[in-house]
Amino acid sequence: MDPNASGLATRLAEAGQSHLLQFWEELSPQEQGDFAQDLQKMDFQEINGFFRKAMEASGGSKEEKVDARMEPVPREVLGSVTRDRESLKDWEEEGLRCISQSKVAVLLLAGGQGTRLGVSYPKGMYDVGLPSHKTLFQIQAERIVKLQQLAEQKHNIRCSLPWYIMTSGRTMASTKEYFSQHNYFGLKKDNVIFFQQGMLPAVDYEGKLILESKGKLSMAPDGNGGLYRALRNEGIPDDMQRRGIEFVHVYCVDNILVKVADPSFIGFCVRKGADCGAKVVEKTNPTEAVGVVCKVDGRYQVVEYSEITLATAEQRNADGRLTFNSGNVANHFFSFSFLRDIVQKYEPELQHHVAQKKIPYVDSEGRLVKPDKPNGIKMEKFVFDIFQFAKTFVVYEVLREDEFYPLKNADGQDAKDTPTTARHALMSLHRRWLLNAGGHFIDENGRHVPAIPSGGAEDSFTDDGGRNLKDGTDLPIKCEISPLVSYGGEGLEELVKGREFHPTLMIDERGVHELVTNGV
Ligand code: UD1
Repeated sequence: MDPNASGLATRLAEAGQSHLLQFWEELSPQEQGDFAQDLQKMDFQEINGFFRKAMEASGGSKEEKVDARMEPVPREVLGSVTRDRESLKDWEEEGLRCISQSKVAVLLLAGGQGTRLGVSYPKGMYDVGLPSHKTLFQIQAERIVKLQQLAEQKHNIRCSLPWYIMTSGRTMASTKEYFSQHNYFGLKKDNVIFFQQGMLPAVDYEGKLILESKGKLSMAPDGNGGLYRALRNEGIPDDMQRRGIEFVHVYCVDNILVKVADPSFIGFCVRKGADCGAKVVEKTNPTEAVGVVCKVDGRYQVVEYSEITLATAEQRNADGRLTFNSGNVANHFFSFSFLRDIVQKYEPELQHHVAQKKIPYVDSEGRLVKPDKPNGIKMEKFVFDIFQFAKTFVVYEVLREDEFYPLKNADGQDAKDTPTTARHALMSLHRRWLLNAGGHFIDENGRHVPAIPSGGAEDSFTDDGGRNLKDGTDLPIKCEISPLVSYGGEGLEELVKGREFHPTLMIDERGVHELVTNGV
């Protein structure tokens, strides 16, 4: 293919991107064909426009200006599992009713690259080393299976709870194959719908597209806010409409404690007549890597941890709590009509955020360079950037130890949010479920293990999210309860009440087992 004859060279020249063809003559015919095909699909003027707008928005003293315009979430839009106990049952029932009527869909954002965790496969396929060796995908799938059963039993009706899974070009094939190999973990194949988000080229600070080899652009997924464009391109709203979906729970793949399609959260949002809602936990450490839900210029927004200044993050109220303490756990509720409006009308208004990165590139001599400091940017949209369009926005505050423990980093000294700590967080929750249901653990000497470990305050310490590692996530009691047995701690009494167990304890659909294992 000749780039001059095809008009490609002209399009590149008009967009100031002619450097992409500098090694053209050195490529084999096959490489030329592949590269030309990649380039033909791209709208360079659009990409230049994204770059200009993203740089404008992130330029200068914008952060300070955002900080000055931030206000905390007002009390009247806030629901809380601790302060609103008397309403919880009602919200949960409302959510279960909606699920039983097949009005709810779950949407998983799984297009990230897992760079921090350091794996080359999709993060959802990660095994954190639980006794069962279930992966994040399996745990989430089984929670959906169980929730569907609970809704069906309560309302004596068959229902479906479809699961839309967004992948990227890099993760689509392996994700699909993984689900197919595992028979969709008990879900109906038709109810697991994969779709693919877009990719964008990485650019240098002048907006020039970066070559990762002589005939290949450096590309990355366009952020989890690429969701809305992907939904449109893949016709997902039509599919949702055909199925009669009215409410959608959107969440991120890496939270091992995620309550997928949480009926209480859905019921709360539905009862409040919300078109958009966000689940939060109390942020207690100013430098924790979570965004904060707040208002900016009177409109709801998440100010991301990379975009808030330390001074604002550290602000405290008279009671000592952080002023901006609504920590985003990346669990969102959208009414279907709101989501459809976003996809049809508002998506083009969303701006890309700029992430400065170290991006490997070929230099003008054709040598591959791996920079040791940021040399360019990736442009990403964020899933929560649509909050600003909500007419009725609500926030639902839950307990961190029950619902939020993300897997972000590989194990290592002082590392946080790792496979080990995520595994401990899940087993700690399951241990509490067992105790609440009237079961007991006994140690190797036959003595009850106390429900609240001794040691006193001087022995306990917290990590940067305020999680108590000594008597919570770091407890050596090994206990895992299959989601197929219990979605949120329910239904355990008949199995464990008044009984004593030696760890490692595993409760699954085949029964209650005491296992002999090494390590946690
Ligand atoms: C995210 C939230 C942050 C929140 C934190 C909680 C966003 C933009 N930020 O931050 O406010 O406090 O989680 O753990 O949501 N993903 C895609 N496509 C992409 C990029 C990411 O689908 O192009 C998915 C990932 O697979 C993952 C999720 O989005 O499921 C979050 O991505 P990640 O980069 O880990 O977000 P954080 O920076 O941790």
